[in-house]
Amino acid sequence: MKLWGGRFQKSADKLTDDFNSSIHFDQRLYKQDILGSLAHVKMLAVQQIIPLEDSLLIQKSLKEILSDIEDGKVEFDVAAEDIHMNIEQILISRIGEVGKKLHTGRSRNDQVALDIRMYLKEEIYNIKNHITNLQKALLNTAKEHTRTIMPGYTHLQKAQPISFAHHLTAYVEMFKRDKERLEDAYKRINALPLGSGALAGTTYPLDREFVAKELDFAEISLNSLDAVSDRDFCIELLSALSIIMMHLSRFSEEIIIWCSHEFQFVELDDAFSTGSSIMPQKKNPDIAELVRGKTGRVYGSLMALLTTMKSLPLAYNKDMQEDKEPVFDAIDTVKMCLPVFTDMIRTLKINKAKMYQGAKGGFTNATDLADYLTKKGIAFRDSHEIVGKIVFSCIQRGIGLEDMTLEEYKTLSPLIEEDVFKAISLEECVNKRNIIGGPAEETVKKAIEINEKLLYTNH
Ligand code: ARG
Repeated sequence: MKLWGGRFQKSADKLTDDFNSSIHFDQRLYKQDILGSLAHVKMLAVQQIIPLEDSLLIQKSLKEILSDIEDGKVEFDVAAEDIHMNIEQILISRIGEVGKKLHTGRSRNDQVALDIRMYLKEEIYNIKNHITNLQKALLNTAKEHTRTIMPGYTHLQKAQPISFAHHLTAYVEMFKRDKERLEDAYKRINALPLGSGALAGTTYPLDREFVAKELDFAEISLNSLDAVSDRDFCIELLSALSIIMMHLSRFSEEIIIWCSHEFQFVELDDAFSTGSSIMPQKKNPDIAELVRGKTGRVYGSLMALLTTMKSLPLAYNKDMQEDKEPVFDAIDTVKMCLPVFTDMIRTLKINKAKMYQGAKGGFTNATDLADYLTKKGIAFRDSHEIVGKIVFSCIQRGIGLEDMTLEEYKTLSPLIEEDVFKAISLEECVNKRNIIGGPAEETVKKAIEINEKLLYTNH
């Protein structure tokens, strides 16, 4: 007999039970479900809605059920549909009539909304920690490479020299924003929906403030219809997770390019790469590729839930049961990708010589030559033109700007002097850019210090 079976003449069809049931994926909410019920039933007694001894018996039994689930002693029943009714059914089977009082003044609609919110609060905390670990690994590697010069790119064409530390710390900034987005989503998740009932609240004098305090919620939802039909917070979280994956994916793409034979800027540790079943020489960046690939499934989860929600009338609709799998899958995926990516970064071997060589070719110092001329009094647009011509002639001669002689420079502009060579050296190109946010060694060191302070004090 179903917990809701009173109105029915027949029991559900087996196929219908399987189809309707969510227990195989929502069982992971068992802890939140029980903690939510504990707070609810405690409050029911405080408010004298049920007798204290009933509340205490229910609480005792719920705690036992919790530890039995944790010990693997509980088997869930597909016919009981979801985690909420499974636990209630187990409770009733253990303590009988008294167990039937737990659901007073509550609906599965506000119950499930509560459970997901509690679950997400915990997972946001976990994911933020994973990001912090990644940021720490990036900063540690960056500290060793504030003088490691590499080419910076636009359009994947060599542009201007930067340092490897500058490149790494770009990602530290991205992940900092990612954590802020998680914290922002957290604020809206942190509102208690319990007390909204099925859709229209309840006639029982529930003390929602009490429950919010018990369960550590900062706010209480103000509209029962909204509280049971809102899944914005899941979508917001999926969006934040998608952006995290987008950042990991861009980084993965760079690592994949950098460890190609054409680049050889980095080498992956053997533990973070794989071989080929046919080509004996291969060492493939599978981990980075998989992180890049898994980005697609997290985006898919975001799209899935946006689409599920797009035409649902208020308030709860069963369609919303489809929220959990994408949310769980996205969380699992991000939680799997972040630590493996972090370890991959920690063990990455950096080929400084190749990076330097890469920064040397491709006229990455051309802007600095133009700036040199401009500082000698030529308008920048004219300097740009002059240097463009010099680059063209160097390309034809197969040399770099630094290979021209002073005499040759002088024929192009009498303003050019011996100091030009220093001005267009890669070290100078990087370290002259000491503007806040720039790649100069001192600037990047300062940025690293600021970020370390943030990481080691706030989190
Ligand atoms: N398993 C359901 C879900 O995940 C719980 C809420 C069911 N409510 C209902 N009225 N059928 O959404």
